[in-house]
Amino acid sequence: MDDLSTIRSAALGAIEQAADLAALDAARVAALGKKGSVTGLMKTLGGLAPEQRKEFGARVNQLKGEIEGEIEARKSALGASTLAAKLASEKVDVSLPARPEGHGTLHPIGQVMDELAAIFGEMGFTWADGPDIEDDWHNFTALNIPPDHPARQMQDTFYLPQRADGTPMVLRTHTSPVQARTMLDKNVQKMLADGGALRIIVPGRTFRIDNDATHTPMFHQVEGLVIDRTTHMGHLKGCLYDFCRAFFEVDELPFRFRPSYFPFTEPSAEVDIGCSWKDGEVRIGAGDSWLEILGSGMVHPNVIASCGLDPAIYQGFAFGMGIDRIAMLKYGIPDLRSFFESDLRWLRHYGFSALEWPSLTQGLGR
Ligand code: PHE
Repeated sequence: MDDLSTIRSAALGAIEQAADLAALDAARVAALGKKGSVTGLMKTLGGLAPEQRKEFGARVNQLKGEIEGEIEARKSALGASTLAAKLASEKVDVSLPARPEGHGTLHPIGQVMDELAAIFGEMGFTWADGPDIEDDWHNFTALNIPPDHPARQMQDTFYLPQRADGTPMVLRTHTSPVQARTMLDKNVQKMLADGGALRIIVPGRTFRIDNDATHTPMFHQVEGLVIDRTTHMGHLKGCLYDFCRAFFEVDELPFRFRPSYFPFTEPSAEVDIGCSWKDGEVRIGAGDSWLEILGSGMVHPNVIASCGLDPAIYQGFAFGMGIDRIAMLKYGIPDLRSFFESDLRWLRHYGFSALEWPSLTQGLGR
């Protein structure tokens, strides 16, 4: 009997005096652990007569329950006081300046696409899109490239499995299929029939089997297309000249048309701009070298006819330019492959603020 009340007051005293959770746990082990005082009482039950065992056993069990209850109560009291101590000792200084957050940047390709849209938008062009996965007809046939034409090899095409209906599919090798898609659009045809003019640019991804320091299997082009009844090669030259001067931000820019060949334009011309080289770095503007930057020409009558328009009525020009290439030239980025490596250090260095939207009046570049 005595034993029981001594053990009780020792256990409850230890619980009450436990100053932290570790001390509380030691008190629990001392009473209820394997070799604990209450556990010891349990062990004596076996040696008692049945009557006594019943009565004493109930009291020991009650004590065990009481101790467990006290431990729980002390535990939450200790938790609350730990929190209170923490709250008292830690302070938040709301007058401190905010920690700077990392700022995302725009990839140079996205920036240059926005610049293209700003310049050509000013000239009345709108932005058009088409699928990356194209059918053979839009990528080649509609553009006056028949099935056995060597240009199909020239472009090192990624061929995809045929559609269920047998249509051969490719990853588009240029943005030119969007010329066909747009001319075929019923609303566009109606707008042209009503005397309107079609002016689009098509910035987007293109794909060819090619991989070295100046070629990646995925790259970007911007297509341009103008169709109406009177647009001629003089307009093409003026449009591209104005574009180049605005884009490279050089007023006196040496600029030349060089005769060339594309199946979908006739006549065709490639555009070179003047530049100079110093210590392996190129400078756009006056100089004694030429850089080829794009292909262009008057849309071939066969293309106009393939797209359901009458070549005796409609005419216009088209051009295609490598976006990655002009981005490298303008921003002095030496390696094409670095565009697609997603290296954050590179992006921080060459990236652009998302808040400085390019426009002709505010300045296009940084
Ligand atoms: N599609 C051509 C290429 O990828 C470029 C081009 C477009 C040339 C439009 C003329 C007219 O090389």
